[in-house]
Amino acid sequence: MDYPENLIVTWGKETVGFLHQKPKQGSFTFQYDDNWLDNNFPPISFSLPLRNEPYNWEDCINFFQNLIPEGDSLNNIATYKRLSTNNIYDFLRRYGKECAGALIIHDSNEEIDYTNHTYIDVTDQILDAISNPKKKDINLLVLTNARLSLAGAQNKLPVLFKKDKFYIPAKDSIAATTHIIKPASTRFKKLHINETFCMKLAEELGLPVAKSDILTIDKVDIYITERYDRKIMYDGTIQKLHQEDFCQALGYPNSRKYESSGGPGIKQCLDFIINNDISDQTTAKLNFSKLLIFNFIIGNCDAHAKNISILYDFDDKNIINHSLAPFYDLVSTKIYKNLSRELAMFIGKTKEHGLLSKESINILIEDLQFEKKDFGEMAFSFIQNIQNSVRKIMKIYSSHDEICKFQKVLYRIINTNCKLFLNPLHKLLHSPKNRPRP
Ligand SMILES: Nc1ncnc2c1ncn2[C@@H]1O[C@H](COP(=O)(O)OP(=O)(O)OP(=O)(O)O)[C@@H](O)[C@H]1O
Ligand SMILES: [Mg+2]
Repeated sequence: MDYPENLIVTWGKETVGFLHQKPKQGSFTFQYDDNWLDNNFPPISFSLPLRNEPYNWEDCINFFQNLIPEGDSLNNIATYKRLSTNNIYDFLRRYGKECAGALIIHDSNEEIDYTNHTYIDVTDQILDAISNPKKKDINLLVLTNARLSLAGAQNKLPVLFKKDKFYIPAKDSIAATTHIIKPASTRFKKLHINETFCMKLAEELGLPVAKSDILTIDKVDIYITERYDRKIMYDGTIQKLHQEDFCQALGYPNSRKYESSGGPGIKQCLDFIINNDISDQTTAKLNFSKLLIFNFIIGNCDAHAKNISILYDFDDKNIINHSLAPFYDLVSTKIYKNLSRELAMFIGKTKEHGLLSKESINILIEDLQFEKKDFGEMAFSFIQNIQNSVRKIMKIYSSHDEICKFQKVLYRIINTNCKLFLNPLHKLLHSPKNRPRP
């Protein structure tokens, strides 16, 4: 064998497989472990079905690359920790002790003690990081030395949050985190308020979303969200549920997460939900459709395929159950003038809010496999609910001046976008072709 070393991928205490690094090339292959295959345990991704043969770099990289940060976050960590942004293997070796979902990835030379569930208190480090101007631009993973990994470009840290204190797993521990925190962004003004507002609005509308809030510590606000891929058991232990995002499930690299760069669009995501073993498909399809309308209305142009996930859970008979994960990362990006206005997933042929036509809504209805009339009824009542619920959410923070000011801007964007969706929808449903014959 010319493989000098490998990384071990585990799920629970079981070895799932191995990442073999290819000498000098920086690439690797992935191979399921014989025992995992013999037991017919679940594949770790829809894009990596169980098989004996190893997956080559081109076929496995999309799943593993999408476990690690990207953009500003990746660059920041790489700079401070002297890592190459291209060396995904090295990143996983250092940060794979806790990932999104259930997997642990570690060096084959490292013994894992599955009985060690200890944490260290990093509250002071986090408080210092968010209030000290010299540290605000440094990623929390760097400042805390945590060996955890989450995708996305924003600065964030998975933590155990208990009695107003933040903890991360200790050095040799496999303890699980329960929350994710995102400090206020230095690049996008009031992003934490924006995200909290949009997440709370979605929750108010009955969409399945991760519970999120603003946490104020020492007069500094941060965004906090409960991990939906962690389950607190009756004895207090934390079970890790596996998850993968739509880029991982469909086999796309993060460089192709946008439809404009060749990434998945609405039809492809819906077809995936319909054609795979996703539980409660009718509800999943309806929630996915509402999510698309919601993102259009709040002005979220960044609702790409990495911002929706599949959650893996086991039923009473220990059989794997795939469902659409609660929604996360709901943000109005239109509020930021320097961000792209192009929709991450096109609506029909439409790429921008102001250009939405009745023809494009017609394509959307077909893509979502709805009857025109049913879609119309659902969309009209959902958008009306959004308009009513916005006022309710605004009241939650009515005593917080800064949040109020920001919410008013969001309110205007939402009202404009409601009209931009409702006008062409109205035209489509009331065009002569659709009027009932006398
Ligand atoms: N509440 C949650 N529970 C479990 N996993 C989550 C939760 N929120 C986010 N994640 C995971 O963390 C990843 C990154 O989160 P998120 O999309 O919020 O980050 P981001 O940096 O804001 O992303 P982007 O680069 O799209 O702006 C998600 O793809 C998902 O796998
Ligand atoms: Mg995201």
